[in-house]
Amino acid sequence: MTINKHDTVRAIEWKNDRLYLLDQRLLPDTRKELEYTDVASVATAITDMVVRGAPAIGITAAFGVVIAARRRYQQSTTDWKELIEEDLSMLAASRPTAINLFWAIERMRELINAIDADPVSILLNEAKRIHDEDIAANYRMGELALGLIQDHSSVLTHCNAGSLATGGYGTALGVIRACWTAGKLDSVYADETRPWLQGSRLTAWELLQDQIPVTLIAEGAASMLMQQRMISWIIVGSDRIAANGDVANKIGTYNLAISARYHGVKFMVVAPTSTIAMQTPTGKDIPIEFRDADELLSLSGQPVAASGAEAWNPVFDVTPASLVDVIVTEKGLIQAPDEAKIHALMRA
Ligand code: MRU
Repeated sequence: MTINKHDTVRAIEWKNDRLYLLDQRLLPDTRKELEYTDVASVATAITDMVVRGAPAIGITAAFGVVIAARRRYQQSTTDWKELIEEDLSMLAASRPTAINLFWAIERMRELINAIDADPVSILLNEAKRIHDEDIAANYRMGELALGLIQDHSSVLTHCNAGSLATGGYGTALGVIRACWTAGKLDSVYADETRPWLQGSRLTAWELLQDQIPVTLIAEGAASMLMQQRMISWIIVGSDRIAANGDVANKIGTYNLAISARYHGVKFMVVAPTSTIAMQTPTGKDIPIEFRDADELLSLSGQPVAASGAEAWNPVFDVTPASLVDVIVTEKGLIQAPDEAKIHALMRA
């Protein structure tokens, strides 16, 4: 896929028969790639957020399956399919909310079931295809969303739904890249995205790498930004869209959607169809990940809260479909999403 000056960042790479992940825990200060040759370390990398973002963890898991198959086939050319199930379960247990993880593992499992020979090159081609298709979907979503954004718009994004969170180019940031390249945007705002700071650490870094100016706001400044009519769209990604159009995304997304509706700001969710979970009927059925209290109570190892305080740390929330103006997928736009429209798009 073409890389242009507004699309230079890649977080996942397969080279020399190994998986390389850009360590997102160290950004923006340090740019360091880690090398992976065993599946347990790949699962830990997902849990520990070396790699994060729904499509990115799906792609990483697909390469993790390749690494697992290499070892299991060496172990036993007859029993490798049974043996690898343990590895698939370990990958699936790495994080609970993003459906892309389970979608990618399932796609690899279906192929495993159909293979009769040495699986490694076949599975590697499939993992690369998952990666390439994700980038292509992101470019397509960028093109599709261009028509929704007026010239001289300003937008706010939340968390990091960019190259770092996907195979490349990004979902929400893909739309922002496309709009920036087309000259439609006056300003891009990113909120910090507490507590892990995906906005200030990752989104700001990624946009600046690609020469797209970005203005950070504190999370609590978003409603004032809208009240002062400084933005016309909020553009976010998603970790899982239920069959009725409810959207799970980074904690704080729901706050933004409520405030956007109140202030007449449009709310756009950008996600490939691999994020739509037809097996999850509504937002209530989406498992929400809770992470360690320490992610809230300290920053880079330094305490930032009164010693002894406890913390409640859900890292995703669910925005009801009724607060979403449009979902952008690579298969088309869904305005005012509901169950019937989601079904129609997924059947098409
Ligand atoms: O906890 P994270 O950083 O994995 O959460 C990521 C998000 O919530 C993103 O907005 C989402 O995965 C969409 S990424 C294209």
